[in-house]
Amino acid sequence: MTPDPELERIRQRFDEAHASIATLVDLETVRNLFLNRTDGLANAAVKGIAARPVDERRVFGAAANALKRDIEATLAARETALRAHAPVAGVVDVTLPGRVPPVGRRHPLTQVRDRVEAIFTAMGYGVIDGPELEDEWHNFEALNMPAEHPARDMQDTLYLTSPVRASEGSRPATLLRTHTSGMQIRYMEAHDPPFRVIAPGRVYRRDNFDATHTPMFTQVEGLVVGEAITLGHLKGTLDAFAKGLFGRDIRTRFRPSFFPYTEPSAELDVSCRACGGTGCALCKQTGWIEVLGCGMVHPAVFEAVGYDPNTYTGFAFGVGIERLALLFYGIDDIRMFYENDLRFLEQLDL
Ligand code: DAH
Repeated sequence: MTPDPELERIRQRFDEAHASIATLVDLETVRNLFLNRTDGLANAAVKGIAARPVDERRVFGAAANALKRDIEATLAARETALRAHAPVAGVVDVTLPGRVPPVGRRHPLTQVRDRVEAIFTAMGYGVIDGPELEDEWHNFEALNMPAEHPARDMQDTLYLTSPVRASEGSRPATLLRTHTSGMQIRYMEAHDPPFRVIAPGRVYRRDNFDATHTPMFTQVEGLVVGEAITLGHLKGTLDAFAKGLFGRDIRTRFRPSFFPYTEPSAELDVSCRACGGTGCALCKQTGWIEVLGCGMVHPAVFEAVGYDPNTYTGFAFGVGIERLALLFYGIDDIRMFYENDLRFLEQLDL
């Protein structure tokens, strides 16, 4: 039996089309071309049976149907093979739901630090940086805390070389800075007034690791020096800072305190956000929460850096970022900030 020329053409076209199939998308295109119900080439041939002369119909009809089944079977086999080997290089299965990559975020301590920096830079402050490995001069002595000064005990220090003993002369000790206050000295040694700067950074103390202490934490130091800087500037600045961070209805108060490098010295309290100042467990029924230490720069500090204390005055402050973050987010265990548990961190977004 000689093959029908029309069916032969369709078979040839199919063989070529089939050979060019590389993807499931290609396969659907070919299937559509040959098997589409309305105008697929194989279907059209089957539909054409009736138009044939009566004596040809039986033979042509059988051949047309055979060709159609053959095309169907070939494509089905090809589809099985393609699915088995998927993904074929270069194939995107556009039917799959998208994969959303996990998006990172800033650590809550970084968020709070950035906020603090934003508030002070908006007030014209420069942001400075300095070494965590410090010497005794910058960390203690120039801040009016000579060797054997009892105030050094306020901060349990991690020394890298043994501390100077008054009896041993002047071998300088190296230590992990216990506060960012040494940055006051570093900045004043290298710059002349007037200026206003903040110095954020890590500090270290020989402390236990518990709900309220960590041997490493973060501070932001502030220093403003000029010719007529007053306690009024200090109070106005820190009140604006507290309101900028915690909200406009926060109230502040300054309590007398002691730091060797400031005179007078104070601590800043803010009204408790948890109870609005009426007294609760968080503020130990006082209505107030302590947030930072501050004061007017002590003349002895100016002398240590070669500034004339009769010409210049200034104020300084030091604030703990972890403490602000605990208050801000209402968290009661500082260790949560360092455990990197994403279930915790993901809940904190300023
Ligand atoms: N250095 C103090 C501390 O770590 C904080 C501090 C208090 C900084 C008073 C200051 C200041 O600049 O004036 O606890």
